[in-house]
Parts: sequence; C-alpha cells; structure tokens
Amino acid sequence: ASSTEVDVSSIEPGQAIKAVFRKQPLFVKRLTDAEIAAANAIPTGSLRDQESLEDRTKEGHRDILVTMGVCTHLGCVPLGAAEGEVKGEYGGYFCPCHGSHYDTAGRIMKGPAPTNLEVPEYEFISDTVIQVG
Ligand code: FES
Repeated sequence: ASSTEVDVSSIEPGQAIKAVFRKQPLFVKRLTDAEIAAANAIPTGSLRDQESLEDRTKEGHRDILVTMGVCTHLGCVPLGAAEGEVKGEYGGYFCPCHGSHYDTAGRIMKGPAPTNLEVPEYEFISDTVIQVG
C-alpha cells in the first residue's frame, strides 16, 4: 500500500491543508490553543464515539490533527479545512450533505454520522513531516 508524506511546517495555527491518501481526501490541521482547549473541555464520556484529543493526536504534536476528509455517514467531504469554509456548530468540520457537525478534534457531535472522522495510521518521520499509511 502506498503512503503519503505531508510537511506540516507551513500550516499556521487554525489552518488546515488538504492532501490525498489512498485516493481519498486527507485533512491535516494545526489546532490553535483555543481549539485544543475546546476539545479538552468536552468530557470524553459524553461523546458518541469516545475518543480524547490525546487518543487522536501524537505526543509532542497535540496541535496536529490528521483525519480523513470523509464524513463517516455516507462519505461526503466535510467543510472546514479550507479558508472561509463553515466549520459547523462545534468549530471543527461540518458535513453539509445531511448535517453532521464535528468538533475541533474531528469528533462527531451532532447529526447522522456514527463515528469520528477517521484518523489514519501515521507517524512523524521528522519534527515537521508526517508519513501517512
Ligand atoms: Fe455527511 Fe451524510 S454524508 S452527513
């Protein structure tokens, strides 16, 4: 299987970039301190798909959120990764197809999607480059 490398060094806090992994959209976002705080303020036990921000990010890089850009309902590409796109009621990603709202950690908060945006297998191969897959 092929892997994808993404240089995260140029992603500003609050910005995301879109890449492609196994022919599907991949979102790589650098969270702001406020976005990290917002995610950490939500009790994990209250979530439909109970993962913490820590579960979804790597140690030493808690500000880098790597998810598939594929809604877990029926596979639309959520909004919120590109400049100016709506982020939904929880400030993360919003799927306009049937109204799924994801929080700043890409976790499903409201709407029909059953699970969080998928975090693919990835690792930091340097301080600034991730290898996905
Ligand atoms: Fe995203 Fe249905 S495909 S809400």
